[in-house]
Amino acid sequence: MIYLIVVAYIVSAIMFVFGLKMLGRATTARRGNGLSSLGMLIAVMATVLSIIDSIRVEWVVLAAVIGAGIGVAASRLVKMTAMPEMVALFNGFGGLASLLVGWGTFQAAADRFGVGFQTQAVDPAQFTQALGGGFSAATIYLAILIGGVTFTGSIIAWGKLSEVVTSRPVLFPLQQVVNALVLLAIVAGGVWFTVAPDQYWIAVAVTGLAFVLGIMAVIAIGGADMPVVISLLNSYSGLAACAAGFVISNNLLIITGALVGASGIVLTSIMCKAMNRSLTNVLFSGFGAGGGTTAGGKGIQGEAKSMSTEDAYYILEAARSVIVIPGYGMAVAQAQHAVRELGDLLEHNGAEVKYAIHPVAGRMPGHMNVLLAEANVPYEQLAEMDDVNPTMETVDVAIVIGANDVVNPAAREDEGSPIYGMPIINADSARTCFVLKRSMASGFAGIDNPLFFKDNSYMIFGDAKATVESMAGEFKESAA
Ligand code: TAP
Repeated sequence: MIYLIVVAYIVSAIMFVFGLKMLGRATTARRGNGLSSLGMLIAVMATVLSIIDSIRVEWVVLAAVIGAGIGVAASRLVKMTAMPEMVALFNGFGGLASLLVGWGTFQAAADRFGVGFQTQAVDPAQFTQALGGGFSAATIYLAILIGGVTFTGSIIAWGKLSEVVTSRPVLFPLQQVVNALVLLAIVAGGVWFTVAPDQYWIAVAVTGLAFVLGIMAVIAIGGADMPVVISLLNSYSGLAACAAGFVISNNLLIITGALVGASGIVLTSIMCKAMNRSLTNVLFSGFGAGGGTTAGGKGIQGEAKSMSTEDAYYILEAARSVIVIPGYGMAVAQAQHAVRELGDLLEHNGAEVKYAIHPVAGRMPGHMNVLLAEANVPYEQLAEMDDVNPTMETVDVAIVIGANDVVNPAAREDEGSPIYGMPIINADSARTCFVLKRSMASGFAGIDNPLFFKDNSYMIFGDAKATVESMAGEFKESAA
């Protein structure tokens, strides 16, 4: 039996590695997801088999049915635009699960030794031995710490993304000092716990401090920096799982946790690069904390011009090259199918059409890629920001569809802007720029956008799907 379980674990681990690799390409991502899920099913079954004599199987089955039910309901009910919030919750519950694994192991030993708040005299060395030694005590501490930080941090991130909590950074006097003190107490608690884990109150205090640290770390971050936070918390949830794997000596959990931890760090670094920010800067500077809609920017002069879809059609009809720049609003409007249809009509009319994807467009990594893939936009037509920007001046029309922050020229032009230095897609460099959105409202970062006021920019107000359908309708009408 033991060999069967080891083989099942190895097979699962291989499936996770290949599944993860397949997630890297839109064409193989769906299969990669399926492969990883199958790997997880095998892993769970093998784990249940390995402890079958010491558990009540009916409880495991009940938990699996409830969990699967919640998963199926969430996959059907949660809208695509609410995915980032769901990912934040997933990260949080992953962290909580690791914390509970740490606590479960600790509590089991504590019960055996009668260790509690009113602790009896216990030999610390013996108690440490009961936990599996000093290394085990350290991994229990890490599972509780990282799991706790991930849990509350992710709940705050969920609150910020769903606007239950302000998306602006929450800053107060001496915040860094308070953070440093909390951190210091956590480190001291860690050393103490590892040396003398029989002090029950330290485990409780470290848990409380981990919760506080998670909240403090994320409330101070806001606006456009949230993508970095989400991927960082994703990485933390992996590290917490890895620590939990050490706690219960489960190699597969260690491997899975390490995979999630490492890929989360890679993603964090990609996000930081996409926004031209360092991780330290994101974590400690409080994005756009200045307040106000321009948040310290220059302020915008000029008047925005609006255009009807009928007039826009005449410009599009003459265009030989068109770049579509989608953003979060395309996801909200579910306009991807209409966008694909318009793209096809433009191509049919002789224009070269490309879709420029900004790495942080939308609300989650790859958000736009997923939507455009769903609408069967050919992968070759997708272009990265760095590839389109040098050619933007030769583009006849840039159609900005529900994007805002990722095309904000303040990032290039206004040193006082909170997004100054963030690479953007230079939609304003195209000969003509259409901005499709419902109002003059700002985007996620909460800052004004000078693009709307440029001489070559025209606002086309309305829901993105209705506007794009109307543009496509003009082409179809003229062809009829
Ligand atoms: P945003 O800057 O958030 O702008 C989206 C725009 O879409 C809004 O200004 C809104 O204007 C418009 N919109 C909303 N619903 C619409 C509809 N039905 N039809 C037409 N327009 C609609 O989006 P972006 O340019 O994609 O930038 C993404 C932002 O989110 C960045 O600041 C990024 O840092 C942040 N963020 C990204 C991620 C990841 S990983 N991608 C995660 C968290 C946060 P109206 O209300 O006027 O229509």
